[in-house]
Amino acid sequence: MPSIIMKLINGYDLMNYAKKNGYILPAFNTTNLEMTYAIAKGLDDAKLPGYIQISSNNLRLSNPKIIAEIARDAAKKYDTPIGLHLDHGKSYEDVKACVEAGFTSIMIDASSLPFEENVEEVIRAVRYCHFYGIPVEAELGALQGKEEDIVNESETHTDPAMVEDFVTTTGCDLLAVAVGNVHGLDLKPRVDLDLLKTIADISPVPLVLHGGSGIPFDVIQKARKCGLLKINYGSDLRKEFIRTFGEAYECTAHKAHDVISLSMKAVENVSAKASELVRIINA
Ligand code: G3H
Ligand code: ZN
Repeated sequence: MPSIIMKLINGYDLMNYAKKNGYILPAFNTTNLEMTYAIAKGLDDAKLPGYIQISSNNLRLSNPKIIAEIARDAAKKYDTPIGLHLDHGKSYEDVKACVEAGFTSIMIDASSLPFEENVEEVIRAVRYCHFYGIPVEAELGALQGKEEDIVNESETHTDPAMVEDFVTTTGCDLLAVAVGNVHGLDLKPRVDLDLLKTIADISPVPLVLHGGSGIPFDVIQKARKCGLLKINYGSDLRKEFIRTFGEAYECTAHKAHDVISLSMKAVENVSAKASELVRIINA
C-alpha cells in the first residue's frame, strides 16, 4: 500500500509506480504558489505522475514548511500521484528541513566537490533520509549552464568507472548524470546516448537527467529505453510564467496591472506546458 503524506506520494512509491507502469517521471521546478498549482494541474490534466520540485536556491524566497503546505494543497484535489522533491539540495541543513516539512524525496548535490567529499555528503544525507523512508538523488559529474541564477561554466561528464563505487558506497536511490545535458536555455544540449547507456548498464539505480528544457523529445525517448526514470524541467515552465506577464505588459503599452487575472492566466499557461511535456515524454 503506497504511503500518502496528505496527498503527496512517498518518493519510493512514486518510483515504483513509474517503473511498474513504464512511465518516465518529469520533475517540474516551481518558484512560487502559482507555479506549484500549475504543475499539479498539468500533471492531473495529463493523468500522469511526476514531481513538483524546488531547488535549495529557491528556499531563499520561502521556507520548506510553507512550500510543502502549498504543494499538499495543490495536490489534494487530484488523483494523480505527485511527489515533492528537493532539487539541488545544497546542505545537510536544507535536506533535514525539507524532510521535516514533509518533502517526499530529496536530492543532495555535492557534485562540485571532489569525489570523496561528494560521497561523504551523500552518505550523511542518505543516512538521515532513509531513516524516514525518503529516497535520495545524488549527482556524479557536473552540468554546464545556468540553473536559476547560478552559472556553471565548466562541464565534467560522469565517469562510468566511478558509478558503481559511488552508488554502492553512498546508498543513493537515483543518480543524476552529466552526459552533455545542460542547465537553462542558453546552451545547446548534446546528450551522449552511448555514454548514458554505458552508465545505465553499470548503475544499480535508475538515472536522472537534469536540464530537460531544450532536449529533443526523440532523444528523451531513446534515453527512456536506457534506464532513465526522472527528467528535470525548469526553464520551460519559468519562461511560460514570465511570458504571460511580459506579453500583457507589452500589449497594453505598459499599463497592465491586473495581477489576479494575469496570475490565473499564468497558472493556465504553465499547467498547459507541464501537461504537454509530461504527455510527450511518455508518448
Ligand atoms: O534541476 C533543475 C533542472 O535541471 C532544470 O533544467 O532549466 O534546463 O530545464 P532546465
Ligand atoms: Zn538541475
